[in-house]
Amino acid sequence: MADSTGHDGAPTPGQDPPANRYGSLPAWRAVDDYFVRSLVAEDEVLAAARESGRSTTMPGAEVTPNQGALLGLIAQLAGARRVLELGTLAGYSTIWLARAVGETGRVVTLELEETNAAIALTNLERAGLADRVDVVRGPAAESARRLVEAGTEPFDLVFIDADKPSNPRYLEAALRLTSPGAVIVIDNVVRDGAVIDADSDDPRVRGVRQVVEDIAGNPELDATAVQTVGVKGWDGFIVARRRSAGSASGA
Ligand code: DHB
Ligand code: MG
Repeated sequence: MADSTGHDGAPTPGQDPPANRYGSLPAWRAVDDYFVRSLVAEDEVLAAARESGRSTTMPGAEVTPNQGALLGLIAQLAGARRVLELGTLAGYSTIWLARAVGETGRVVTLELEETNAAIALTNLERAGLADRVDVVRGPAAESARRLVEAGTEPFDLVFIDADKPSNPRYLEAALRLTSPGAVIVIDNVVRDGAVIDADSDDPRVRGVRQVVEDIAGNPELDATAVQTVGVKGWDGFIVARRRSAGSASGA
């Protein structure tokens, strides 16, 4: 392939810009570029946040502009006033979510790494959104447990995008921190197709497969998963919704 990244996502030392570390085909990137140029207004605040992603502990792992816009739209479609995010990184998706909840809304975002939390805070301040976002430092499972113990007001939308082995625990936390009608989105559930390997000993794959099983076995949840291709390669996300009280078919 002509580009600097193998389809397995293995980076070529010294040659891989962040957007290319995920085994992304040139055509996928060209289509992402087209839609982002045409439909997604990434202003300088978002562009700066994306750029700062290079300095995080996971360069280039930020959602793409069109994925960020989708998160914002999902938050708006759900009428979300309160959003919980697990995995802040540079705060790029946090900005999309914080804009979507509006001035009176609130985003709580959980981040393990101090480096990333500091970068995210700078980005949120630059975006003028720091007053509606709480960046909570520490392991997301512990931070979520503290929110449960504190009797935190339920969230309308939870975006799970932290360490993948812990996805099942994060779903549990999301269920404790939401009410019927809430939406739960989980990032990175395809990972180049690895998700279908039932015998995988990769803890990230196992974390995704377990959360899929947990969702499937939970009669309270309506859910689907959608594959994506683009600048971050071949991946996908789950969208789930807690069934509203009294509805038999997910209405
Ligand atoms: C990884 C994590 C992410 O949340 C993502 O969107 C892409 C990659 C990772 O663990 O490598
Ligand atoms: Mg992700």
